[in-house]
Amino acid sequence: MTAQLNARGDVAVLVPAAGAGLRLGPGGPKALRLLAGEPLLVHAIRRIAAAGSVRVIVVAAPAAEVEAVQELLAPVAPVTVVAGGAERQESVALALAAVPAGVDIVLVHDAARALTPPQLIEAVAAAVRAGHPAVIPVLPVVDTIKEVGPGPELEVVLGTVDRAVLRSVQTPQGFRHDVLAAAHATAADSLTDDAGLVEKAGVPVTCVPGSELALKITRPLDLILAEALLHVS
Ligand code: C5P
Repeated sequence: MTAQLNARGDVAVLVPAAGAGLRLGPGGPKALRLLAGEPLLVHAIRRIAAAGSVRVIVVAAPAAEVEAVQELLAPVAPVTVVAGGAERQESVALALAAVPAGVDIVLVHDAARALTPPQLIEAVAAAVRAGHPAVIPVLPVVDTIKEVGPGPELEVVLGTVDRAVLRSVQTPQGFRHDVLAAAHATAADSLTDDAGLVEKAGVPVTCVPGSELALKITRPLDLILAEALLHVS
């Protein structure tokens, strides 16, 4: 059954899903890899559509897969599908261009975080609505982190970073529409996340607690973990 989006909602969710997913090994675009018999993108869209304030979903698909992705998602939720670009940032900019004026909050959410609960999507949107121009979900870092450099044979340690002040950053990242549009319009370098662009523009970025379920499915082990987590997400 196709989920209905909230026509009175104030949130657009952009889903960059145009990556090749090479780190998962051979087998086509990552967003279309199967998890328990369904593409990761389907799992992700179902959860986005279940978030009550979402009015618009725009997916950036691999250029060769736009029609296939439209057909795949039609039974799941009403989505706009655009062709993505060569880099993630370009895919986000292309999706952003498809967001109608009048939608005040834009979230950017990786298809690879397919099990992200609707509650996290709502928590990020709520923090933007409450007045924070840019919001990211974060988790504490569990490993000790070392800075390394090249040695004569193997890498050598240059120093130990204080873990207490570090956070792992997830998606969805949420922004005021005008703030994200301005950051993309003036972006000089290609960054791995949208909050990075906004930071460079001098906008404060606020953290909310992330979720273990929002893990990024990147390597083959992550697929096994995600399958085990399906029954709790
Ligand atoms: O490569 P990485 O894991 O950082 O990709 C994060 C997200 O960005 C994935 O959902 C991927 O599909 C998307 N992406 C994209 N367009 C690209 C490269 C990555 O939409 N050209």
